[in-house]
Amino acid sequence: MGSDKNRLIVANYDEIARISPLDILSSGRYASSAFGYAGKLGRFLAREMELQPTDRLLDAGCNVGIYHDHLSPRVARMVGVDASAHAIERARTGHRRLANAEYRVADLTALKPEDFPQRFDKILCYSVVHFLGSLDEFESLLRSLVGLLREGRGMIFLGEVRETEMYERFQDDLKKSEGSRLRDLKFSLLKKIQKWLLRRGKLREGIAPTLFRRADIESLAARLGAKCERLEQAPWHPFYNTCVDYRLRF
Ligand SMILES: C[S@@+](CC[C@H](N)C(=O)[O-])C[C@H]1O[C@@H](n2cnc3c(N)ncnc32)[C@H](O)[C@@H]1O
Repeated sequence: MGSDKNRLIVANYDEIARISPLDILSSGRYASSAFGYAGKLGRFLAREMELQPTDRLLDAGCNVGIYHDHLSPRVARMVGVDASAHAIERARTGHRRLANAEYRVADLTALKPEDFPQRFDKILCYSVVHFLGSLDEFESLLRSLVGLLREGRGMIFLGEVRETEMYERFQDDLKKSEGSRLRDLKFSLLKKIQKWLLRRGKLREGIAPTLFRRADIESLAARLGAKCERLEQAPWHPFYNTCVDYRLRF
């Protein structure tokens, strides 16, 4: 695996998948009931990734695959990979009824192209790259993913990329809202959830996301020969004010 930070993150996700109530995480339906988030995200991804019935789709860093109910019916084949064995086990159990879905444990920082002899038309990597250690690791992950595209052509969709510029603006806004009751309520709720998880499992706390500058992402895409489109997050997205999506066309 890549950096120490990435190792810690994956260990945390593995632990979360182990200790969280199975009925909440494994069904793939959990967020459909939690404010319809999985459904909204699934439909958004199907549209923005322009999914076609003939597509082979790879979800790189899928965790339990919360939006897979909405993606798999729209493609020919869907492969989900994640380094967390517990998350993959839950994805398999929760999505048994999805006949065209397959799940594998794999470390994205050490992908072997020979493990995927049938290449992909579309690759989704949602809410993952901020767990990498550096821009170099980001570049090497992207290069491996490009190697998994059919004849080097297709689309890579990077979701929830934490952009430095947006994050800084968000921190400024947060400072301005200090003392607001809504803000305090939100943070105390988040702290309670974190404490509960820490108490129940072997989680490590305090792992900050890696932020990437817009210009660095755009020049990385250009180096790889991709047409790069930056998509603002929809207002229903929980992190709409701190991150964006990138659609890379090859
Ligand atoms: C925030 S979750 C996102 C899951 C899913 N894409 C979603 O949006 O619901 C991040 C996932 O990335 C996985 N991950 C992080 N680094 C990884 C790596 N090097 N190899 C494979 N999976 C990784 C974690 O195990 C975790 O399941």
